[in-house]
Amino acid sequence: MDYKKYIAERIKIDGVVSEEIYSAIAFPPNTEMGDYALPCFKFSKILRKSPALIAEGIKNSYDCDGVISEVSAVNGYVNFKINKQGLTREVICEIVEKGTSYGSSDIGKGKTICIDYSSVNIAKPFHIGHLSTTVIGGSLYKIYNFLGYKVVGINHLGDYGTQFGKLISAYKHWGNREEVQKGGIHAINSLYVRFNEEATPEMEQEAREYFRLIESGDKETNELFEWFKSMTLSYVQKIYEKLNIKFDSYAGERFYTDKMQPVVDELREKGLLKESEGAQIVDLEEYSMPPCLILRSDGASLYATRDLAAAIYRKNTYDFYKCLYVVAYQQNLHFKQVFKVLELMGKEWAKDLIHVAYGMVSLEDGAMSTRKGKVVWLEDVISKCVEKAYAVISEKNPDADNKEKIAETVGMGALIFGALYNNKIKDIVFSYDKVLSFEGETSVYVQYTCARAKSVLAKSGTEGSLPGNYEPNAEEYEVIKTLASFGEVVNEAGEKYEPSLVARYAVDLAQKFNKFYIECKILTAGEDEKNFRLALTKATLQTLENALKLLGIGVPEKM
Ligand code: ARG
Repeated sequence: MDYKKYIAERIKIDGVVSEEIYSAIAFPPNTEMGDYALPCFKFSKILRKSPALIAEGIKNSYDCDGVISEVSAVNGYVNFKINKQGLTREVICEIVEKGTSYGSSDIGKGKTICIDYSSVNIAKPFHIGHLSTTVIGGSLYKIYNFLGYKVVGINHLGDYGTQFGKLISAYKHWGNREEVQKGGIHAINSLYVRFNEEATPEMEQEAREYFRLIESGDKETNELFEWFKSMTLSYVQKIYEKLNIKFDSYAGERFYTDKMQPVVDELREKGLLKESEGAQIVDLEEYSMPPCLILRSDGASLYATRDLAAAIYRKNTYDFYKCLYVVAYQQNLHFKQVFKVLELMGKEWAKDLIHVAYGMVSLEDGAMSTRKGKVVWLEDVISKCVEKAYAVISEKNPDADNKEKIAETVGMGALIFGALYNNKIKDIVFSYDKVLSFEGETSVYVQYTCARAKSVLAKSGTEGSLPGNYEPNAEEYEVIKTLASFGEVVNEAGEKYEPSLVARYAVDLAQKFNKFYIECKILTAGEDEKNFRLALTKATLQTLENALKLLGIGVPEKM
């Protein structure tokens, strides 16, 4: 149950809507004071009263019941204490009843969210830099689904541009079918790299010609291009499967080839297009930004032109409530420009376009630089994570059955969690040892906690039950309260585009459960306590599984 909502709905403040009260309710710094607190400072202006008086008034008119057992007013705050027994009963029952959907809601019902994420480039390596967009977008996808939204996952493929002319030229000179078929994306990428190193001016000219041929629909050139494209896609598909990621649309940049002219026309009609050194631009000086390039002097479109067409297409096709772009912060300016141009075109929905920016990921040994040609392919990082997970598991539990399968779940989990645990805007340095530690704030720790819970439940042979009127002790109550807040956390993660909140929640819940596990006997406790503690263990397991699932992470049977 949403306690914040419960409380907010029972408070009346003149001139303030219930949503505003809801969002003001917070956790007090110390749980002795209460479980929830409403600071009254911001209502002071509207009511022309001191916060202390307002708090006092709210306290006096609030009716306590089986849910909220105590209300106090202190220094401009109203503190609410939840009825422990009531909360305990309610949380456990709700988790049992809802199971895998515990924490979900229907807040997004009837609304569509588009998420542009991963958005790989054809014939280019899928490297560690793509990890964040893929797992952040993938997790947001699951979170919004869980919140009742219809979600459209879009892979805005980088499949447009002169580089494909280059690739075809390189293939014609140096490639052959069998080798490329066998080497897949690596072979294509080597051809492209070789072109950039060795191409003669004639080949450059030829490449432009090939690009033109792709554009004009020439059969042979397009077949080659489609072949490279399908090879890239089947390669990334395997990675997506391992990461538990899916897309509803692969409409890439090329898809917008015939959808850009109407945008250019509209810009011109609205008087937004300006000529500058032969190119067509939208001047954004007034907004302290460099101009947004729409057409080059040779008439060619640009990345921004295709994004303008894509945004309009998405609005028309999906009528989105929000459209998110999960793209590194290096593209901050690009999205600011695109969003601004749409706003200037009078698209009132431009405000619903959101650039969900994130920081850089590098490996501990600094092996990320593309300039040195030392690209780290994501598939290698994946293999290494799983291999290392295998070693870690073998050490901890040498006789475990199915070690390969466990290592896969643990290794992939560690990789995903490592990329999701920090606030997304931070640059992160990825360390295999850190993400695979049993002790730290890791998925391994959370998965291990799940395995521990499973083993306790298996030993008891039951899932516990709730004794009538159970008064939880301090450790138990901490777990209960954390369980109760899961739905709020998921909601906040959606509102802030921040899956890390769910990752952090999982660690927090696991820590509280482990504290309880160490302090309280389960299987050897008295009948009522034992039953309750088993039920609490089961509820924790369910909630941890739900949280991990929102991140795209599974839980092994044993560890
Ligand atoms: N393919 C681009 C890149 O790798 C990312 C595309 C992001 N999405 C977009 N609509 N611009 O940089």
